[in-house]
Amino acid sequence: MQKGANLQSLRISSRAFKRMSLVALVAITLLIATGTWVRLSESGLGCTTWPACTSHDLIAPGTYHSLVEFTNRSTIIAIGILIAMVVVSSFLRETKRRDLQLLSIGLLVGYIGEAVLGGITVLLKLAPPLVAAHLILGLILVANATVLHWQAGIPDGLATSNRSTLFTTPMVALSSLMLGMFWIMSVLGTIVTGTGPHSGKPGTPRFHLSLGGMVQIHGDVGLVFYGIAIAFFIALLGQKAPKDTIRRTHIVVILLTLQGILGYSIWFTKFSVIPAEMHTFGAALLLIALIRMKMGMHTYEDTQLDEQDIHDGHLECQPIGSAQPDISLTSAEYASSSSSAVTRS
Ligand code: HEM
Repeated sequence: MQKGANLQSLRISSRAFKRMSLVALVAITLLIATGTWVRLSESGLGCTTWPACTSHDLIAPGTYHSLVEFTNRSTIIAIGILIAMVVVSSFLRETKRRDLQLLSIGLLVGYIGEAVLGGITVLLKLAPPLVAAHLILGLILVANATVLHWQAGIPDGLATSNRSTLFTTPMVALSSLMLGMFWIMSVLGTIVTGTGPHSGKPGTPRFHLSLGGMVQIHGDVGLVFYGIAIAFFIALLGQKAPKDTIRRTHIVVILLTLQGILGYSIWFTKFSVIPAEMHTFGAALLLIALIRMKMGMHTYEDTQLDEQDIHDGHLECQPIGSAQPDISLTSAEYASSSSSAVTRS
């Protein structure tokens, strides 16, 4: 009896799980920032041993590089604990959801992968392809955490219902193209980094490419990306798309503009570290914004609604408001709110 009561008290509410997934998303995004600063400030060897910082000091002895490296290590450990808690919580959630469990496990797998890749990167003396892969995997983790947080906000009754979109195929294709462009830009960006001066440690091997040429390619593809995003935004306005989609796309366009400004700032300031830090962090923010824009284009069909109602004309199709769903609503309430494919007339 006592045991049963204890187990009962271990149930995690859907609201608490959603909050945890948000904390995980924020923490993983911050990790991109701290990891990048370790590289830009050349603090990779600020701590010379593991798990203590130096052979004499358990924590950072107070020098700048040791403090940067130690802060990054502490963040990594805290995030590991946080991700483990998210995985356990996904199994203790009041309603079991396979999508949330799989996405939570995805975070753990990505985190372990990052740890292994990070270790190999140090062993291979910061070889540029590994430094690049380390950032790309970090961005994949950010993507995973963003989808997890989004899915955690979908009411349980709707999560397994059919997903569709009221946007036209070209609009859906354009939004997918924007996500694809993000990954192309990120890979090109890591090649620029691997060619440029921010290696993480003086004397590290570099890609034997023309730095100016690589920045040119990265910047030009960025302009194409920008053009596609503006075209998408104008098309949304022309189609009187739901306010939420317009707002999310607006955020994407603003972040993309800032990325461009920061990118050119890095080049014109001869690779200053502050714009370089903001540019990498900005890439993570842009990814979150793009995924939220894309996820918000979906809608869910509530199979519990009376089909006869629809045929009788009591329900009518409306453009979908794609607000992040309010999980305090039941699936039926959610379906009758503005986020649903069908609303009562
Ligand atoms: C449009 C969206 C853009 C995205 C998503 C993006 C993404 C990235 C990423 C992920 C990196 C690698 C950073 C790292 O390894 O820590 C990078 C590096 C870089 N990007 Fe961009 N970028 C964009 C636009 C631009 C533009 C328009 C320019 C202007 C020329 C630019 C210039 C650079 C430079 C110079 C670097 C090297 C920074 C360094 O070595 O620390 N980027 N970019």
